[in-house]
Amino acid sequence: SQVIKCKAAIAWETGKPLCIEEVEVAPPKAHEVRVQIIATALCHTDAHIINPKFKEALLPVILGHEGAGIVESVGPGVTNFKPGDKVIPLYMPQCRKCKFCLSPLTNFCKKLSPVKNPLVDQELLEDKTSRFTCKGKPIYHFMGTSTFTQYTVVSDINLAKIDDDANLERVCLFGCGFSTGYGAAINNAKVTPGSTCAIFGLGGVGLSAIMGCKVAGASRIIAIDINSEKFTKAKALGASDCLNPRNLDKPIQEFIIEMTNGGVDFALDCAGGPETMRAALDSTIVGWGSCTFIGVDSEMRGLMVSPVELIMGRTINGTCFGGWKSIDSIPKLVTDYKNKKFDLDILVTHTLPFDKINEAFDLMNQGKSPVLPLRTVITSSGISEAI
Ligand code: APR
Ligand code: ZN
Repeated sequence: SQVIKCKAAIAWETGKPLCIEEVEVAPPKAHEVRVQIIATALCHTDAHIINPKFKEALLPVILGHEGAGIVESVGPGVTNFKPGDKVIPLYMPQCRKCKFCLSPLTNFCKKLSPVKNPLVDQELLEDKTSRFTCKGKPIYHFMGTSTFTQYTVVSDINLAKIDDDANLERVCLFGCGFSTGYGAAINNAKVTPGSTCAIFGLGGVGLSAIMGCKVAGASRIIAIDINSEKFTKAKALGASDCLNPRNLDKPIQEFIIEMTNGGVDFALDCAGGPETMRAALDSTIVGWGSCTFIGVDSEMRGLMVSPVELIMGRTINGTCFGGWKSIDSIPKLVTDYKNKKFDLDILVTHTLPFDKINEAFDLMNQGKSPVLPLRTVITSSGISEAI
């Protein structure tokens, strides 16, 4: 295996657009795989890290963690992948050896740090070095994936092999957004048939959570957003009621408690701020109401909870990667998608070539376009092949 020279989008500084540069991608070392990225979507997490308010950023870095591609080469000791395989890089590893991987109770893997912010975990590969260099400088990896590049190198425990006929421009969403929202409803909240659910925030994650509630058999799904334009897709996916807190004459939680005669069985916060986390918890019924936190607040503000709120039988839980054991589950989700168990097309509102990646960030940050942006998929087409 040789060094590959290709194009990548590099974040040199916070608060600045990414720069498309020529990078060198070293061959994979032991238990690593070099992947040609065919499609990658953007997620807020990519934007958080270059937000000047986020002080822990490790720069320069190649961001991106919602990608899909094709194996180019494998390092020594790799047995599960071969060149030509279609794959999805996974920020949630699955080593299959640690006590967490061996437990059915969690999808956490010991390869992740239990204390580190996941945004700055897996910033180097196993031997604590990077496979990327640009202009003579090493470039950090991101979340063990780094998909904003034509070629990346990942550990073989951060990669899922998927069906050969998978549509990479859609299944890239399994790298984060879809899997997180959909899995939060199914695996973490464990939504039950006939239940009533409230989903706060109707971005890509919230709409995926609605799909999860629907598949789990919820009979009433209340969708909440401060932007009423989001309601069309929520309804199309099965929301029974759509509420805009700004159009109500009382706090959203009071309204939900009244309309459900005491509160919902399951509330999922897919907006990610103290206001919606509070409203989601308040909206759950005493006795058994369950509140799941999915959104991450970029300012890391907390939530005050009094013990009484939980003593009365409510529970709070959270999700990372939708609770999926990543390598085991993602190939099955790809098959479910092929079998039309759920719809990914509804989430992809824009497709852009790789060299327009900063336009995709603008769409995500400003949310303005004739078509309301949800997810933008960046394709490797439109720029020159690797040199
Ligand atoms: N009440 C209701 N909805 C809200 C509120 C609020 N107070 N504040 C924001 N929202 C809505 C937004 O209008 C938007 O439609 O939440 C939605 C969030 O959607 P996106 O910004 O598209 O985010 P998404 O990609 O779905 O991710 C959800 O997870 O990791 C986090 O930072 C990410 O917070 C985001 C969340
Ligand atoms: Zn993400």
